[in-house]
Amino acid sequence: KVGVSIYKFDDNFMTLYREEIANYFKSLNDGNTYDVTIQDGKGDQAEQTNQIDNFIQQGYDVLIINLVQSTSAATVIDKCATAGVPCIFINREPEKADMDLYDGKDYAGKYTYVGADARQSGKMQGELVADLADKGDLNKDGTLQYVMVVGDPENVDAKYRTEFSISQYGEKSGLKVEKLDEQRGDWDQAKGQEIVANALVKFGDKIEVVFCNNDGMALGAAQAINAAGRTVGKDIYLVGVDALEEAKQLIKDGKMTGTVLNDHIGQSHTAVDAAVKAVNGDKLEKYYWVDYVKVSPDNVAEFLKK
Ligand code: GAL
Repeated sequence: KVGVSIYKFDDNFMTLYREEIANYFKSLNDGNTYDVTIQDGKGDQAEQTNQIDNFIQQGYDVLIINLVQSTSAATVIDKCATAGVPCIFINREPEKADMDLYDGKDYAGKYTYVGADARQSGKMQGELVADLADKGDLNKDGTLQYVMVVGDPENVDAKYRTEFSISQYGEKSGLKVEKLDEQRGDWDQAKGQEIVANALVKFGDKIEVVFCNNDGMALGAAQAINAAGRTVGKDIYLVGVDALEEAKQLIKDGKMTGTVLNDHIGQSHTAVDAAVKAVNGDKLEKYYWVDYVKVSPDNVAEFLKK
């Protein structure tokens, strides 16, 4: 019995991720039967904690948890440790101190984090812009004027992508940067659209690049850019992360500058493999990392569904 709780179902990327968890469990042909229950944390930690308590009470063999609040990791780890139930954290990385909590104790090797290093995705976004012929500096003033659309800070991905996209851009391009605006869009398309629409009204042609922490918000940004009569690739640039199918299509059509593949297939399979290992009594590593991949007009065809 496998209990899965996703921070909320209404999230583009985590929807692909959870569907692949279910598919991959079904495809396993290892002599075990997996009874997989996937629940919606509804963005509410109390609700999710309740789900976890129920999984434990009902004797589930392993949990796969996409925390609502990463700061709740210690509580969840303690509950699972007391019950002796292995726990695989995905997508929202717990603090290192929490991952170290059971070092040297029995429960170490029974919980793990499976994810991708968000610093890498941020750096790749910076490179996608720095590698453009004009380095994104459309007005040639030696400074990149940009807008940053930030994800939900409960996921450290938001912090790292915001920081590392800009630091890596500066390093690779040798140009200066000027932040015109930075707003929190919680990974959400509608919020991304609203934020970028407002920024376009406020800053107009000054904006050279819109960095979005994910593609959901970048899809919203693309709508706002269109509505404002601006043209990606000509008078503005736009980058995201995740490589959602719609974003890849926009890149192919020249309506988005680039994205970074957040490999939900690799991550979900690694998480399921770890869960299976744990049920079989094998010791888990503390971390399992899956790489990001840069997606630009040059290679987008390789990533589009055939
Ligand atoms: C990120 C992903 C976002 C969102 C978030 C949820 O890794 O890029 O689109 O799904 O996780 O925590």
